[in-house]
Amino acid sequence: MDREALKRAAAARAIEEIADGMVVGLGSGSTAEIAVELLAARRLQVVCVPTSERTAQLARNLGLALATLDEHPQLDLVIDGADQVERGTLNLVKGLGGALLREKIVASAARRMIVMVDDSKLVDRLGGGTPLPVEIVAYGWRSTLGRLERSGLQPTLRGGIERPFVTDGGNRIADCSIAAIEDPAGLESELSGLVGVIETGLFIGLASRVIVAGARGVEVIER
Ligand code: A5P
Repeated sequence: MDREALKRAAAARAIEEIADGMVVGLGSGSTAEIAVELLAARRLQVVCVPTSERTAQLARNLGLALATLDEHPQLDLVIDGADQVERGTLNLVKGLGGALLREKIVASAARRMIVMVDDSKLVDRLGGGTPLPVEIVAYGWRSTLGRLERSGLQPTLRGGIERPFVTDGGNRIADCSIAAIEDPAGLESELSGLVGVIETGLFIGLASRVIVAGARGVEVIER
């Protein structure tokens, strides 16, 4: 099976959890976009809170009812993808799509976070091959990268100096190479304390359920 088909299988299983009357957070990234399309096709009476301008645009085009998080500060659930899922803990790395800040705010406001991935995203330890995205303030970004480096990461400014990637909130992303992360919660709290860091792509204790699609079918893992 190709990755697209696996993403679709995971997304299809995730949207089965959505019912009429729910307030649903919509994640960002290619898997979340498939889920948005499948959700729209179900024509449920739901209100959706998007985690990025891109997802908002797609959902709007498909006729889904949108609201802001301020209109619905508590959500029934959020469906989202991930870049890495740690077996056992269900801690995540997110943000390769650049929407980590809103994704984390929306996930933190949801009673349940359902994560949809293909099985290539499942890892024993976060980090390693996949960089850890960290959202940082544009002002003084070079100094912030220095602080990240002194914390043992190897950060690069996403998009480069000439054309830096700009998040929906107008910030920058530092993609940080890092070896396997032994203590994700400890790293999260260390990085969050650095001046200039807005949010990290480490999602600790947020995912309540992970739907993993692989060649042998769809598996649902609970935290
Ligand atoms: C967006 O900022 C990310 O957190 C995505 O959720 C993550 O990159 C997964 O994206 P794909 O579903 O495209 O792999």
